Amino acid sequence: MKYGKIIGTGKYLPKRILTNIDLEQIIDTTDDWIYSRTGIKERRIADDETCYDLAILAAKDALKASELDPENIDLIIVATMTAEYATPAISCLVQKAIGAKNALAFDLSAACSGFVFAIHTANQFIMNGTFNNALIIGSEKLSNIINWEDRNTCVLFGDGAGAVVVEASEEQGIIETICRSVGEDYACLTAGIKRIKTPFKNVNIEQDFIEMEGREVFEFACTKVPQCIEEVLEKAKLEKSDIDYYILHQANTRIISKVAKKLSEPLDKFYTNMEFYGNTSSASIGIALDEMVKAGKLKNKKVILAGFGAGLTYGASIIQF
Ligand code: COA
Repeated sequence: MKYGKIIGTGKYLPKRILTNIDLEQIIDTTDDWIYSRTGIKERRIADDETCYDLAILAAKDALKASELDPENIDLIIVATMTAEYATPAISCLVQKAIGAKNALAFDLSAACSGFVFAIHTANQFIMNGTFNNALIIGSEKLSNIINWEDRNTCVLFGDGAGAVVVEASEEQGIIETICRSVGEDYACLTAGIKRIKTPFKNVNIEQDFIEMEGREVFEFACTKVPQCIEEVLEKAKLEKSDIDYYILHQANTRIISKVAKKLSEPLDKFYTNMEFYGNTSSASIGIALDEMVKAGKLKNKKVILAGFGAGLTYGASIIQF
């Protein structure tokens, strides 16, 4: 039996920093409101770089760490909700840019749960013997789909990309994963539906932006994430005491505090970096993972990754490093 194992991580963050103080000049908000409600101080904004540029740069970083020859990559999955193309999948642009001629490439749409969904998907291919490895990327240019006049949402998000390379191994790396969708509640969080004028229907051409019922999403995350973590631990026959760190999707420090409290786990087991990047959707878990790996924090450690977001969707994965 083969298992997926993470053998390399990478990330890319655009250079431009947009602080809460900068936002005070654009909309009716304050640094104090944003920081106290979310834990966010600043975020990165991609100027000329596209969502696939961010994906390519994170992919190259992860490939370098994994020392894998691009021609030997079997599978590329890009989790994103901000791709510039409806088709082709931006994973195909990544494939071209890195020279992964022999890979199957496709995108995956599960918003802020995308990274965990992509890990789960890649791991199925590896466990059933179809593929020997996979490059997984979460990439978002959220600044493209934000309504910069809506203070309820524009203060929350940022641009960036995170990536991991997973390879088949005799040792268990990705120990257990659970992913779920709650389509019933889809309307709580939607983004970027393009309405097109056709000869058959008289509609205005306009771009819809991210729209969110903040409180509903907050409650959803605080309820489903701890439940999902308990469930995945039970499935893996592990205890919370076996887990060294939790890397949750970086949306809000208050969500992380509530989840920690519900799990009766100390807050210092929960990594946070949203202070610097805001909510980067499918990229956040990959970025956090890469920071922890490069800081030498994950050697021989067991980690739980947990995502939650539009769909609504959520998922948790236990990873042995
Ligand atoms: N600056 C100043 N005031 C703001 C503001 C801003 N950027 N955004 C909203 N407000 C105001 C509101 O207008 C409201 O004013 P009112 O009471 O006069 O109507 C007040 O602040 C409270 O708004 P509310 O939405 O109740 O705040 P909240 O405490 O629920 O915090 C969120 C809002 C968005 C931070 C919070 O709901 C949240 O984090 N939800 C989860 C979002 C999330 O994680 N989404 C991504 C999931 S992947």
